[in-house]
Amino acid sequence: MDYKQLVAAALAPALPDLTQEAILDKIEQPKTSKQGDLAFPTFTLAKTLHKAPQMIASDIVEKVDGSDFEKVVAMGPYVNFFFKKEAFAADILNQVLANGGHFGDAKLGEAGQVPIDMSSPNIAKPISMGHLRSTVIGNSLANILSKLDYQPVKINHLGDWGTQFGKLITAYKMWGSEAEVKADPINNLLKYYVRFHKEDVDHPEMDDEAREWFKKLENGDEEATHLWSWFRSESLKAFKKIYQRLDIDFDSFKGEAFYNDKMQEVVDILEDKHLLQESQGAEVVDLSKYDLNPALIKKSDGATLYITRDLAAAIYRKRTYDFVQSLYVVGNEQTNHFKQLKAVLTEMGFDWADQIHHIPFGLITSGGKKLSTRSGRVILLDKVLDDAVALAHEQIEAKNPDLPNKDEVADAVGIGAVVFHDLKNERMNSFDFNLEEVVRFEGETGPYVQYAHARAESILRKAGSPEIAVTGQTLSDPAAWDTLKLLSEFPATVVRASTEYEPSVIAKYAIHLAKAYNKYYANTKILVEDDELNARLALVKSVSIVLKEALRLLGVKAPDEM
Ligand code: ARG
Repeated sequence: MDYKQLVAAALAPALPDLTQEAILDKIEQPKTSKQGDLAFPTFTLAKTLHKAPQMIASDIVEKVDGSDFEKVVAMGPYVNFFFKKEAFAADILNQVLANGGHFGDAKLGEAGQVPIDMSSPNIAKPISMGHLRSTVIGNSLANILSKLDYQPVKINHLGDWGTQFGKLITAYKMWGSEAEVKADPINNLLKYYVRFHKEDVDHPEMDDEAREWFKKLENGDEEATHLWSWFRSESLKAFKKIYQRLDIDFDSFKGEAFYNDKMQEVVDILEDKHLLQESQGAEVVDLSKYDLNPALIKKSDGATLYITRDLAAAIYRKRTYDFVQSLYVVGNEQTNHFKQLKAVLTEMGFDWADQIHHIPFGLITSGGKKLSTRSGRVILLDKVLDDAVALAHEQIEAKNPDLPNKDEVADAVGIGAVVFHDLKNERMNSFDFNLEEVVRFEGETGPYVQYAHARAESILRKAGSPEIAVTGQTLSDPAAWDTLKLLSEFPATVVRASTEYEPSVIAKYAIHLAKAYNKYYANTKILVEDDELNARLALVKSVSIVLKEALRLLGVKAPDEM
């Protein structure tokens, strides 16, 4: 139990009309430590109880069991709790040291499976910054959920089907070469595709040919299938290089094409339930009662669509994983698509439709402008990572030129900086990408947190890693106290990140903890032989453990030296 929960439990007998949650919600951190460590305000109770807040506060103090606290006092309209600092310090440090990286683990998910649809770039196009956001948010959610005893299943729903492949094959047959594609698949396939769109304006017969090729592909034509599968594997190779740099892996690469033979069932169910309507030759599901546009299931030429494949995928995932939740980490411009998906599944009678959650996120901009493949305003991810690593290298060279494994550390710092920067922003916020800012060692950055961790490790190395035993010695410094309280909040922070599907909760926490620790470190001589040496080292060690674990949850490495 963390100390907020302890306070709520102590208050409960005095507040029979409030739920534990409602009590927890009201508890706040007082402005100064003179007012205690946590406080419960009584203003909002005054109305229902028809009493002055001051009176309510003193009544509550009469009724609470204060044995877990140094004292519990009424101060005006507040009930203020003062912790037993020695016991608190010993308790929290013991928990962290005994559990190590498992501090904060909880058995909430009961091993329930949670597919996470993440990354999901489109074949023959570069991975965009939007796909990067999906990749790192999804990966972090997977880490957070698995810490809480869920079983995440990371699924890369590749965009590997659709009419664009007809265009790509047409373009390749006109201008492409095998050697070119092999040398640089993504850029050259993109080049053909872009050229197709330039030239088909004057040559509409190219569009007919593209439609022909896509039809052949859908009918399993040998040449079309061969080209498609080659484009797919070359693209996937290039994507996997990026995933490797980010150190992110997937449990499944079943993309849109995997559902080709599973869509007839979707159409059959829809027909059975009389949900399909004809509209200008196409088949649609009316969703007006959900205030949504009709979902287009089949085009007039019989071709199926993005949403049809998503319906088949949703059903397949339910059958395969019997999920307790099914997440889709996809940009907020697809909100409407996922609303339609849920609505159609609900109409089909699947009661698990409400276990489906779209986890949307905002745009990454550059110089305040939207990025798009078409306008040429793209930031190439590989290049971003290279530049970030180079910047990290420069800083390490300046700060710690003798570091033995510089390359490895520069990799961890540069790539970690990009990932951290992405995750510290609440996911719905759009943010501007500015590399210099991302890789700074000061400010609210990944390297700042990594550096705090590395400094803690360096002290522990200097101390010669003694057997750290926790006693009840007071860590009297107020900065130590702030750090201790933050450590105790880690488990609840992980839970909040999971219920809000918000890795930024962890990133912000890591920044707070690193700041509190740096303040402590700046004002305290740690390696002095006195009675509190052991307690100080226990604190340093605990900070190191929790910072490293917080970074791990974000998918960021924590080098021991940098
Ligand atoms: N490939 C799509 C895109 O880049 C994202 C796919 C998201 N996942 C899904 N199940 N619809 O826009």
